[in-house]
Amino acid sequence: MTSDTQDFSTVVTLTIDLLSQIVLVLVIGVVLLTQNVRLALITFAVGPIVVTIALVFRQLARNAMQQAQRALATVNATIQETISGIGVAKNFRQEAAIYDDFQDVNELAYRVQLTRVAVFGSIFPLLNTVSGIAVSVIIYVGGLMAIQQDISVGEWYLFVQGLTIFFYPITSLASFWSQFQQGLAASERVFALIDDEPLVVQTGNEPVGRLRGEIAYEKVTFNYSTGRSTVLQNFSLTIPAGQTLAIVGHTGAGKSSLVKVLMRFYEYQGGDVLVDGRSIRTLDLSQYRRQLGLVPQAPFLFSGTVAENVRYGRPEASDSEVETAARQLGDGSWLADLPDGLQTDVGERGRGSRWGSGSWWPWPACCCKTRPSCCWTKPPPASTR
Ligand SMILES: Nc1ncnc2c1ncn2[C@@H]1O[C@H](COP(=O)(O)OP(=O)(O)OP(=O)(O)O)[C@@H](O)[C@H]1O
Ligand SMILES: [Mg+2]
Repeated sequence: MTSDTQDFSTVVTLTIDLLSQIVLVLVIGVVLLTQNVRLALITFAVGPIVVTIALVFRQLARNAMQQAQRALATVNATIQETISGIGVAKNFRQEAAIYDDFQDVNELAYRVQLTRVAVFGSIFPLLNTVSGIAVSVIIYVGGLMAIQQDISVGEWYLFVQGLTIFFYPITSLASFWSQFQQGLAASERVFALIDDEPLVVQTGNEPVGRLRGEIAYEKVTFNYSTGRSTVLQNFSLTIPAGQTLAIVGHTGAGKSSLVKVLMRFYEYQGGDVLVDGRSIRTLDLSQYRRQLGLVPQAPFLFSGTVAENVRYGRPEASDSEVETAARQLGDGSWLADLPDGLQTDVGERGRGSRWGSGSWWPWPACCCKTRPSCCWTKPPPASTR
């Protein structure tokens, strides 16, 4: 989004520039024609050569640009994958292979960028050479004509000056064309994003009030997007209020999808989902979600302190409320494991960045007692921090 909007702003600037340059070319062309038709025709003859060079350049530039962007994307993807999978890679002693992979993509990106710079760097010298040759022809022919008194020295000088003004817009038109096109493509993407309609559409805005919690799936049909396989087909299930229900099934069977549909993260295509007898499509979405609590399969912590994470859904909660809530988790003894209690900084995504990249997030003590393997390394002693 950031680079596309930047490209789009370039298009706006370029368009204004291009318009004024086109006007300039037209005006100068008319002036030169009225001065001397023969010299003016020699000048215009260079036009097709410049346009041909520009067209060839456009093709080369587009290829070079696309390859450069692809190469950059590959390098970024490789780095990201390597870093997020570094633990697995080290475990399988694949550091050397990772290094070699990175060398390969890096080398490729280097070569592609070199080509790109060569293409972009050659256009101006090339066009300047062409216009230089044209200027010398004009100086020579015009000089001869001036000697033969066909034109005055003043007119001749006007041509020599006019040529540069005439060529500059054409060369810059040619060289910025690819940037212009790139910007147009970027603007299309920006507007497509702005115009995109959310898939989840509420048909009503009814106030929700306090829910009892009876959930009924009625012949629900659901897929993540058209063309993908159906996850739920004519699925019906009624869960009475207050009941605890475990849903068991193969991986990919659609257990999490049931919850995502209920949370209104995705739109279902057939049937309906009722909560306390009301279709969840008709409810005020914000009020509805306020009544739901979701613990995701992979826990997620926002950067900040433990306390900030506990009061994430209700920022106005008092310190004592936060503490009470935290102590309800397990037997609360995990709080004592935190170096600064509730004020401990969890680091980005809960990685505990204060002590480097090692994960030390202590799990609730209840979990540690039953499954010691899920208790990760504790923070190192204060002396080594
Ligand atoms: N965001 C998504 N976009 C597209 N398809 C998805 C998405 N999430 C899940 N799926 C697909 O939907 C099907 C059901 O997935 P779901 O996550 O509901 O399974 P699950 O029963 O929760 O599995 P698990 O036991 O592994 O958690 C799978 O085929 C899965 O590939
Ligand atoms: Mg799941």
